[in-house]
Amino acid sequence: MLAQEFIRHKRDHGTHDAGRIDEFIDGITSGEVADAQIAAWAMAVFLNGLNLDECVALTRAMTHSGMCLEWRVDGPVVDKHSTGGVGDTVSLMLAPMIAACGGFVPMISGRGLGHTGGTYDKLESIPGYRAAPTITEFRKVVERVGCSIIGQTADLAPADKRLYAIRDVTSTVESIPMITASILSKKLAEGLGTLVMDVKVGRGAFMERDEDAVELAHSIARVATEAGTPTVAVLTDMDQPLGSVAGNALEIVYAIDYLTDGGATGTRRESRMDEVVMALGVEMLTGGKLAASPSEARVMLLKTLDSGTAAERFAKMVRSMGGPADLVTDPWKHLERAPITVDVTAERAGFVGHIDTRHIGLAVGVLGGGRSRPQDSIDHTVGITSLAAVGEQVDANQRLATIHARTNETADRVGTMIRSAYSIHPEPPTPRLTVRQRVTSSGAAEVPTEIPTI
Ligand code: URA
Repeated sequence: MLAQEFIRHKRDHGTHDAGRIDEFIDGITSGEVADAQIAAWAMAVFLNGLNLDECVALTRAMTHSGMCLEWRVDGPVVDKHSTGGVGDTVSLMLAPMIAACGGFVPMISGRGLGHTGGTYDKLESIPGYRAAPTITEFRKVVERVGCSIIGQTADLAPADKRLYAIRDVTSTVESIPMITASILSKKLAEGLGTLVMDVKVGRGAFMERDEDAVELAHSIARVATEAGTPTVAVLTDMDQPLGSVAGNALEIVYAIDYLTDGGATGTRRESRMDEVVMALGVEMLTGGKLAASPSEARVMLLKTLDSGTAAERFAKMVRSMGGPADLVTDPWKHLERAPITVDVTAERAGFVGHIDTRHIGLAVGVLGGGRSRPQDSIDHTVGITSLAAVGEQVDANQRLATIHARTNETADRVGTMIRSAYSIHPEPPTPRLTVRQRVTSSGAAEVPTEIPTI
């Protein structure tokens, strides 16, 4: 097949068949198809779209462009994936919680980019933790501990790596079928029985509007299920940071606090975080047939926290991946702290009405804790803690957040950013749902019966 004929076909609104998609993706993986041709095709897809069959074929082809893992374990292999947000530490808690319930979680995580954080970067703040191990080592830890979280490897879905890098510089990222195939190719190569997608929506998310997030959620649930991995998507709120902490090492400590109910710094479990962890965990346990009902799943998840078994799994995972054996009991013995801490205070009394969450994420980047280009290095120590939540009542000069910075200059800059990200109103805001919708492959979108929180 001539690549230019394939591109022309999509340019002229044609429909690709699966065989041609396979050939083109093979050409991307082998290097036979040139960067310019990949860019032209990506733009044709961006403009003219892919139908369901094409998207399934693209997902399958990209999944099989590299190694696909197979498991011989005594339990379901399940995973979750988030489209990315601010203060989203869910993976760090949920992987060991599911492992403690009998599931196996081979989680391949991404780096943070732009204003969103990445689980891979958070793990890299742990001294000794091998976030980029060999596949053999990864498999061994999953089989022995029940979970392992690592970064993307060149072995899995290499076609996506090349295609994504080209989309990134050709303004073709924001295409639902290409996002679907890109995310799913990496996840399906993990060899999962079930996947749960956390599609974030709001100012701090990739998708700011509900209708776009629902469209992506439908696309992912349908394509993954058609491609052979039953998948449910849950839409969750990202109009404020998910937890009160953003920043890499700081979020590791936050996760340890969550798993030990405040054992590291005294920070207790926060309700919005809890809702998202529970909603996704319930889907993982019921989807993996470890629980017969959502209520049974909830009880199992809570038990892993109360009994300490989830914290034990986390500790075992960290140790098995080369990190300190006592990270959970004494995290600050091992994690580096930023040298400067400064409080940001409210200019007037009132209620936190809105937080420009994108700017909170960007503020972590300005501190040095995020990157704007994939090759940038980051400062794992910096970040923000004690972020006041939407609905919280504050007095004038009361703390809105604490900045952890490397220099006074960046702390000052970020203080201004945080202050302007917070809107303080005289009246409390209308409560909003944290877990907005559950979307299945059949297209059903249900609003969960949940007490709204603010
Ligand atoms: N994340 C991915 O992995 N791929 C995309 O295309 C967008 C976000």
